[in-house]
Amino acid sequence: MKRFKFIFILATGLLFYSCLRQSEKKQHIIAEADTIATIVPDTMQIPEGKFGAAVRYGRELFIKTAYYIGPNGINGKFTGNKMNCTQCHQHAGTKPYSFNLVKAHERYPMYRAREGKVLSLGERINNCVTRPHNGVPIPLDSKEMIAMLSYLKWINEKVPNEKWMEGEEALAISFPDHAANPEKGKDLYKLKCQRCHGINGEGKMDAAGVAFQYPPLWGPDAYQPGSSMHRVIKQAQWIKANMPFDSVSWDKPVLTDEEAFDIAAFVNDDRIHSRPNPVTFDYPFPEDKAIDYGKGPYIDTFSELQHKFGPYKPIILYWKNKRWKPRF
Ligand code: HEC
Ligand code: HEC
Repeated sequence: MKRFKFIFILATGLLFYSCLRQSEKKQHIIAEADTIATIVPDTMQIPEGKFGAAVRYGRELFIKTAYYIGPNGINGKFTGNKMNCTQCHQHAGTKPYSFNLVKAHERYPMYRAREGKVLSLGERINNCVTRPHNGVPIPLDSKEMIAMLSYLKWINEKVPNEKWMEGEEALAISFPDHAANPEKGKDLYKLKCQRCHGINGEGKMDAAGVAFQYPPLWGPDAYQPGSSMHRVIKQAQWIKANMPFDSVSWDKPVLTDEEAFDIAAFVNDDRIHSRPNPVTFDYPFPEDKAIDYGKGPYIDTFSELQHKFGPYKPIILYWKNKRWKPRF
């Protein structure tokens, strides 16, 4: 019996020691991290109590947005389509180069050119609720908004905030000398995207009809024209890092830069594809406009078509010569 007790104590001791080492190792990784990939927050570490409960619910809202707050949401009806936040902010906002959100909490309030005013993080969340999700704003003091903010605060606490992190921004992509070509994009779409996103970009609903399994890329259930995903440069950067879903990783892209541009041009070509709520009143100050925003007026001499599809290099050069900062 005594011997058994001894072995038991030894085994627990060893287990405890190895756990300690593991957590030391993890702390070390967090301290040394220069890539977000290595510091994906461990959801087991979400604290107990009210704050922890809000963080957990906030994370759920990112992953199962339509289920909770979609058109038939069980806890509210805010988003107007059945997409989930995580379908653009992948891994609930923690995946590198996927519109990563680990730094969002520390970046707000921020002046935003698109609205021409200072936005809080809650108001910025509502931009995504109203544009890509085609919905109505979530009240800033609601349980849902507080949960999403708590989650963003919690993931933000996991990163050393003074450090630049690999993957916190968009993937760098080089601009071709010519305009992006929607015709070529159409053929590439058939080859590399259509099997999941559908022949009409309509996506595919999950079996229960609650949310999209494969989200739509255009049509009545897709993101609005005011969404940043509707900008060709933004989308090209994102799809190069993240699509096709089943065969890509950001450090091993499947698409070349040029292919990513051509496909993004095809997906976002408003001459052939419609979207909900085409009327937007963005960028009250044209000098703040992103160069790939496809609606004038502009302060430069380039056409709407060139702003939308490129070539972008002459626009960037023009802006630099005027000592304006080109935004994209
Ligand atoms: C169709 C794609 C799409 C969907 C769906 C989407 N977003 Fe976004 N979101 C974007 C893009 C694009 C940006 C801008 C990223 C950039 O400029 O690099 C953004 C930015 C944000 C930001 C600001 C990040 C920062 O640091 O400035 C927050 C917060 C955010 N989204 C929250 C959400 C939430 C919450 C949902 C779900 C209700 C959601 N988004 C759904 C595309 C999407
Ligand atoms: C194997 C299936 C599959 C293929 C192939 C695929 N996608 Fe996706 N796509 C997805 C899934 C799943 C998501 C949601 C991502 C998530 O939940 O992490 C997504 C999300 C997206 C989104 C963001 C959400 C939205 O609807 O706006 C875009 C844009 C997109 N895909 C474009 C493309 C393009 C362009 C291609 C071809 C180069 C492609 N995808 C190929 C499955 C696929």
